[in-house]
Amino acid sequence: MNFLDKIFLTLIETTPTKEVFVNLHASSRNLSVVQDLINNGQKVLDVGCGLGLTGEYLTKKGFSVTGVELDTALAERVNNYISYEIHNKNAAHLEYEDNSFDSAIFMYVFHHIPIQKHPEVLKEIERILKPGGKMIMVEPDPNSKFDLIWDKIFFADNFYHYFDVYGKFSLIRKGNMRIFEVKKEDFSALEFSYVGEVK
Ligand SMILES: C[S@@+](CC[C@H](N)C(=O)[O-])C[C@H]1O[C@@H](n2cnc3c(N)ncnc32)[C@H](O)[C@@H]1O
Repeated sequence: MNFLDKIFLTLIETTPTKEVFVNLHASSRNLSVVQDLINNGQKVLDVGCGLGLTGEYLTKKGFSVTGVELDTALAERVNNYISYEIHNKNAAHLEYEDNSFDSAIFMYVFHHIPIQKHPEVLKEIERILKPGGKMIMVEPDPNSKFDLIWDKIFFADNFYHYFDVYGKFSLIRKGNMRIFEVKKEDFSALEFSYVGEVK
């Protein structure tokens, strides 16, 4: 669990500020745009859900959300205050049934997954999405100095690489944010190119 998560968790757990955090998160991460993109279906998987705030927002909007979080301690504590369920799993081994979700969201997560694991994760997401389902991947712009410095300070242990994506997808740009929409049918042609030295 990183330093920032610890501070936010303590505030959410000990003060009546959960709604404030959900609203701040929703506006800073452009969740209304994400909500519009997933309006084709109800069942949403929020992969790398962290503090669970995206799922809390989408649950209120009527979606049926499941969260997935790699960090065991974080998943356990967040499950105590959210109104849906988070499972402690790795995005590369989700163990859900084939064709079981309408959409899978990665909100600022992919650049925290080692790049050698990216093909495995994409394969797993393709498997669990229903036909016509979609992955929504929200990532910082590779040229964003602010995000790069932020990640290097607060996520030094598990910050890997920003990347560009090639293939068939829709892209919305909002400030430093890139919102990719990839349909299940278009996963096989998806390619990433990484920025800087690959570790
Ligand atoms: C920068 S945080 C983003 C959290 C949240 N999505 C948000 O928008 O605030 C990245 C999260 O992804 C999680 N994560 C990293 N690799 C993962 C993996 N392979 N499977 C599941 N979660 C993962 C981390 O533990 C962390 O909580």
